[in-house]
Amino acid sequence: MTNERAGGVAGATSREFASGQKIFGRYTLVKVIGRGGMGIVWLARDEELERDVALKFLPDLMIQDHAVFDQLKRETKRCLELTHPHIVRIHDFVHDERSGCISMEYIDGETLSNLRAEKERKVFEPDEIATWTSQLCDALDYAHNHAKIIHCDLKPANLMVNQQGELKISDFGIARSLGDSVSRLTAEQGRSGTLVYMSPQQLNGERCTHLDDIYSLGATIYELLTSKPPFYSGNIDRQICERVAPSMTERRKELDIEPALVPQVWEDAVAACLAKGSSRRPQSAAEVAQRLESAPCRMHRGNLRSCARWGVLRSVKAAGQTDITGGGDSRKIDRRHTLRKPE
Ligand SMILES: Nc1ncnc2c1ncn2[C@@H]1O[C@H](COP(=O)(O)OP(=O)(O)O)[C@@H](O)[C@H]1O
Ligand SMILES: [Mg+2]
Repeated sequence: MTNERAGGVAGATSREFASGQKIFGRYTLVKVIGRGGMGIVWLARDEELERDVALKFLPDLMIQDHAVFDQLKRETKRCLELTHPHIVRIHDFVHDERSGCISMEYIDGETLSNLRAEKERKVFEPDEIATWTSQLCDALDYAHNHAKIIHCDLKPANLMVNQQGELKISDFGIARSLGDSVSRLTAEQGRSGTLVYMSPQQLNGERCTHLDDIYSLGATIYELLTSKPPFYSGNIDRQICERVAPSMTERRKELDIEPALVPQVWEDAVAACLAKGSSRRPQSAAEVAQRLESAPCRMHRGNLRSCARWGVLRSVKAAGQTDITGGGDSRKIDRRHTLRKPE
């Protein structure tokens, strides 16, 4: 049995939880699976529906403040409409008078930030993330255009890869309301999101739009390919607003990462996402996907190994696609892979 108490001001929950404990009359806590800006995430068993779920506990402050609580409940309700194979499903907002959490689909996998950190050179090569970026853009485009929901805190730590090798975006739609509430309640600067992936507009506290997600998409890809976000030391706020980030090739050279060269198509697409003015960014995630799809695909051994590790190879084979070393069209693989139901 482990007792857990969340740390930090924003994530403060006074109640202690233990594995094996049944909460809200329905969920049996299994184990802690993560700690983030807001608090603790538990793996739990939903005894009613007989399925595993991830429970993201909210700071007590949020449960006690009626206005914040109501807003959060409303926002969570909207997120229930998000149904996409590459977006983590939100199931419910559960609470009693003392504490509350968001119940969501449990992803048995790893975040892209952890997967990157496990790489020998701490970076992915473009080919290795091409399938995931395509799935990411698909999901973003769906959320922006069909569900009309903005993420507002897109970053490698909010991208998970499951055992089938599929990418899942987490915290969709709830990041903004959680971030806003915490910053209001703790009187921090009035901005939500994670600084290094934030657009200049979001940084300045403007209302979040889908073009802020496009910026964060660029910053996320930049980090996956170079090990660092576009700006990471010194006065980051100022650089985000005023400086143009070095190309990814330049950054890889600075950090002695070999091979340094990042294909021009990737450089151009990412630089466009990082444009300071939102009107100069690609205007949709579909446009980013299209630009990246025009990059030549080089499937090499390293890629096959890393794909195999996350089950991609298994899925691809099962879908009847065998020629993945031929350097053909990786998008064909993606489509089959995307259409295939998780095992
Ligand atoms: N739906 C989920 N399924 C499995 N693990 C999750 C899920 N959501 C979050 N996690 C784990 O919990 C950690 C903390 O998540 P979170 O509180 O959302 O952090 P952050 O503030 O960085 O977004 C994540 O890094 C991940 O490992
Ligand atoms: Mg998260």
